[in-house]
Amino acid sequence: MTKKLFIKTHGCQMNEYDSAKMFDLLEEKENFELAESEDQADLLILNTCSIREKAQEKVFHQIGRWRKIKEKNPKLKIAIGGCVASQEGEKIIKRAPAVDIVFGPQTLHKLPDLYNEKNNTNLNQVDISFPKLEKFNHLPVHGKGEPSAFVSIIEGCNKYCSFCVVPKTRGHEVSRSIEDILNEISVLADKGTREIHLLGQNVNNFKGTLGGEKSSLAKLIELTAKIENIERIRYTTSHPHEFKDDLVEVYDKVPELVSHVHLPVQSGSDRILKLMRRRYNIDKYLHLVEKIRDVRPEMSFSSDFIVGFPGETKEDFQGTMDVINEVKFDESFSFIYSPRPNTTASDMPDDVNDEEKKERLNILQTRLNQLSFGFSRKKVGTTQNCLIYGPSKRDPGQLQGRTICNRIVNFKSNDIDLVGQMVNIQINEALPNCLRGNLHN
Ligand code: SAH
Ligand code: F3S
Repeated sequence: MTKKLFIKTHGCQMNEYDSAKMFDLLEEKENFELAESEDQADLLILNTCSIREKAQEKVFHQIGRWRKIKEKNPKLKIAIGGCVASQEGEKIIKRAPAVDIVFGPQTLHKLPDLYNEKNNTNLNQVDISFPKLEKFNHLPVHGKGEPSAFVSIIEGCNKYCSFCVVPKTRGHEVSRSIEDILNEISVLADKGTREIHLLGQNVNNFKGTLGGEKSSLAKLIELTAKIENIERIRYTTSHPHEFKDDLVEVYDKVPELVSHVHLPVQSGSDRILKLMRRRYNIDKYLHLVEKIRDVRPEMSFSSDFIVGFPGETKEDFQGTMDVINEVKFDESFSFIYSPRPNTTASDMPDDVNDEEKKERLNILQTRLNQLSFGFSRKKVGTTQNCLIYGPSKRDPGQLQGRTICNRIVNFKSNDIDLVGQMVNIQINEALPNCLRGNLHN
């Protein structure tokens, strides 16, 4: 008998990838199919994020709502995965007894066993261990023919930036082998995927083996481009400290690699960067941007920013604004600093007051939006080769694609056969975060 599954995903692209894998696994092993709504499900999974306090608070609110569904349907099981699960473990069940299963980012392959064990014994199941890469030996590679697909290449992070919980929740860096990754990509390409988005917390420290020898992200990108039907390659996230020369050179060699990179700078003050343990200074960061632009002049850069880090002065913040103006970042993410458990920054006094933090965030976001809009406006009148992703979510009479510089483009068309194709679009209108255009004949 088929059972129904509902997965809710918080947080990063890595979590989205993991959630898709949970579904593939439970479909294959336990005959689950996706439920249309939460109250029709036999199993509810919440894939959580703990990067900031707000994200973590959302978890217990969600469990509270699901508890009410469970009161009406006692057979329903609730499973909590992801980074809050990894951080809190059994404490989640203590605080929220409606939860049946707690699993971590590296034990999601055990979900079918944990689910069966709970059903057979009625004992709660908790497994948040870090068995190295074991999960990839158990996860099916299906490929559903989506135009763009994520592929995890490195799990965990060793950087221990002073503000960040990820090394604690996702464990230390472990790279998959190049053969294993290329195998997954070939299956996806055969099913119709045209764009591969290589994923990891710190992809440029990728050290996956090829023929038993340690290799690099640059090599992996070159080999990915050789796979038939792969037209575009992206990767996220890269750390400025480990952006090696062979990766810069690959922008020259591999036209399939997109002209956009997410290269989080976090702050424009060398003093704050040191306190953050980011391992680069602003000169080094700007030099890297210049080197990449020398090879690909049309390159666009996006970043993450943290404002109000402990001890951040007005001058430090001005440094961040200066670096924004210098690089002219495109669409970026910015956050107010949030102290996280067991991080070294959480021992530093969180001394920038809330009002000041909000004001800095507002100034920074206003400038980023201006730059992003300017970037969009420059595209008006050009023709952009776009990969078509599918119907626009807001207007089903339109299709949506992405330019090589990462801009969403909407255009009128009902021709669903264009999905998954590379198509030329004439751009005739700019909005701050997207473009509008017409099919170019
Ligand atoms: N691996 C990525 C970052 C993952 S976390 C990298 O190397 O940059 C995504 C972003 O969340 C970070 O870049 C940072 O800007 C933000 N972030 C992480 N911890 C935070 C904290 N404690 N408070 C506020 N923002 C944080
Ligand atoms: Fe976090 Fe720094 Fe790693 S931001 S994910 S510790 S590179």
